[in-house]
Amino acid sequence: MLAKPDTLAAPFRSAARIADIGVSEILQIGAQAAALRKAGEDVIILGAGEPDFDTPEPVKQAAVRAMQRGETKYTALDGSPVMKEAVREKFRRDNGLEFSTQEISVASGAKQVIFNAFMATLDPGDEVIVPTPYWTSYADIIRVAGGTPVLVACDLANGFRLKAEQLERAITPATRWLMLNSPSNPTGAAYSETDYRPLLDVLLRHPHVWLLADDIYEHIVYDDFRFVTPAALEPALRGRILTVNGVSKAYAMTGWRIGYGAGPAALIKAMAVIQSQSTSNPSSISQAAAIEALTGSQACLTERRDSFRLRRDLVVDALNAIDGIACLRPQGAFYTFASCAGLLGRTTPKGSRIESDRDFCAYVLDAAKVAVVPGSAFGATPFFRISYATSEAELKEALARIAGACAALMV
Ligand SMILES: Cc1ncc(COP(=O)(O)O)c(C=O)c1O
Repeated sequence: MLAKPDTLAAPFRSAARIADIGVSEILQIGAQAAALRKAGEDVIILGAGEPDFDTPEPVKQAAVRAMQRGETKYTALDGSPVMKEAVREKFRRDNGLEFSTQEISVASGAKQVIFNAFMATLDPGDEVIVPTPYWTSYADIIRVAGGTPVLVACDLANGFRLKAEQLERAITPATRWLMLNSPSNPTGAAYSETDYRPLLDVLLRHPHVWLLADDIYEHIVYDDFRFVTPAALEPALRGRILTVNGVSKAYAMTGWRIGYGAGPAALIKAMAVIQSQSTSNPSSISQAAAIEALTGSQACLTERRDSFRLRRDLVVDALNAIDGIACLRPQGAFYTFASCAGLLGRTTPKGSRIESDRDFCAYVLDAAKVAVVPGSAFGATPFFRISYATSEAELKEALARIAGACAALMV
């Protein structure tokens, strides 16, 4: 039996801290595309931020064995000792970095690591510099934590990378953190040692500013690009860098929810306080799987990287062949961030004008049945993001449809 409505109850009221936080545009577009699919339309969704590959079999088997051994209880709050050891080994092997277990935190996804870091350090008025285009969760997490995101626009002309003079200008006495993400979601742009150097020099001159380096796409880099991480480049900054990473993207483990961070012990301890009153330990079974991912054979990384590179080239070449679209060839991640500036002002066959990247993406969904995400969802216009973490056949079909829809636009 359903409960009777309580007519005297006050209407629902949400907390002020979530007032400025909207539902992600990516999720909205995904929902719209899913609704079209349900209605029988043949929609191709190029919006998802997760690899289409399966979690490697040895990783799944490690989880099964953990369950059979009875590893189904609480573990140490921010990662079991074996898990932390696996993270230490990863940093040593891949980045030449040595951390103690007190300098490592394991959480339910890299997102939780970032959340813990900002919750543990930001007070009202504290600023965090976030270069755009950006993964919008950064700004929302900063706001939830009571801080102020300071968005700094990075130009296409500089490959969407932050310049030293922009960083210098953005720093104020209230700056607590600089947030960097390489390779980047949504642009795929990555910082080489030469790109990082001038930024790290600025930070050396401003000892009150900490750096959060989000390296989640570390293993998805192409051609001769060599991945580097700031903590390895500048030992003098080690005392104020939090390096964030996770297994979601590299090992196709988005659903397992394991991320980790490494940084100064005092920060890690403060982050554990936040985690202790939210989720406690990340899933014991997922930790067992992540240990296998981080310490087992790394062969899948190369295979998958090669496959992603072929898809990147397919998408970039097809986009650049379309009149009105221009796309850089990204160094990493699995996204392209193309400009649709050349299509603005054109008219659709139904008679409406394309005035913005949002209009363009709505048109592509309507006319070509392909879901892509407008750049405005990442703080930059007029662009659109394609996630090419999907099959080659589907990408070819999607790009052919987008090309057809663009050709149908009238100048
Ligand atoms: C740039 C960036 N950082 C962090 C994350 C979060 O990853 P996780 O699944 O480990 O929480 C994502 C996921 O989309 C991302 O794109």
